Amino acid sequence: MAAQYDQIGNKVADWDVLPVRSEYIEGHTFFKALGPIEGWNVLDLACGDGLYTRQFKTRGAARVVGVDISEEMIRGARTHEEAQPLGIDYHVSDVADMPPLGSFDVVTAIYLLHYASSPEHLLRMCRNIHAHVKPGGHFVTYAFNPEFSAKGPNSTRYGITMLEYPEAPREGQAISAVLHTKSPFTIHFSHWSRDTYERVLREAGFRTLTWMRPECSPEGISRFGREFWQDYIDNPHAVALRCER
Ligand SMILES: C[S@@+](CC[C@H](N)C(=O)[O-])C[C@H]1O[C@@H](n2cnc3c(N)ncnc32)[C@H](O)[C@@H]1O
Repeated sequence: MAAQYDQIGNKVADWDVLPVRSEYIEGHTFFKALGPIEGWNVLDLACGDGLYTRQFKTRGAARVVGVDISEEMIRGARTHEEAQPLGIDYHVSDVADMPPLGSFDVVTAIYLLHYASSPEHLLRMCRNIHAHVKPGGHFVTYAFNPEFSAKGPNSTRYGITMLEYPEAPREGQAISAVLHTKSPFTIHFSHWSRDTYERVLREAGFRTLTWMRPECSPEGISRFGREFWQDYIDNPHAVALRCER
């Protein structure tokens, strides 16, 4: 399932400009969950072509390392690094099998956990994530919303829609979503319930888990109006989760 990003390649960059990806929702919500990172060491998992990885560096992080399972995505990230060096190191690895890369103040993962192919794979990922977080540090992630509702709004206007979403998805059920870019593409992942995420993260050693629903930034409201975002806010495709070690 993860190798799908080798095929998606630079189509992912088109996604970056869609409303929900922007600082209006996703970036705004994620950075609020993350908090200040000046001087911190950051490990960014499922970094893709480095959209957020670069932002951690420009927001003042000290050491930044990116990891992704897709060679194609890491090639894109390294191309950015060569064009505009920020001193970011990139590695190709499944997070579940990642070699030790050091000890980090914060580990981030924007769109990773729902790519786990089984609860056992999810647990190996979370154990490895925990092993890379310093005592007192945290893991902040953004993942597909386990409580997305088939009955709720699922509008194309935000750039992403769920495809044939089941009313009551089973654990591990395959889910697809369409990214409405210039040349739309479909991504595939697994449904894991909130209970499964919480159980596995606790088993991996994380203590306090705080879920955060997406919010729209003041810029997003002034650009499009509150009403534009309401359907998304009512039934967001993704949510943030902050885990203290
Ligand atoms: C939607 S992209 C997000 C990329 C980046 N975080 C962003 O927001 O721009 C999801 C990424 O997760 C990566 N991925 C999926 N499963 C993974 C795994 N087990 N280990 C590492 N990366 C994985 C994919 O290759 C892909 O680049």
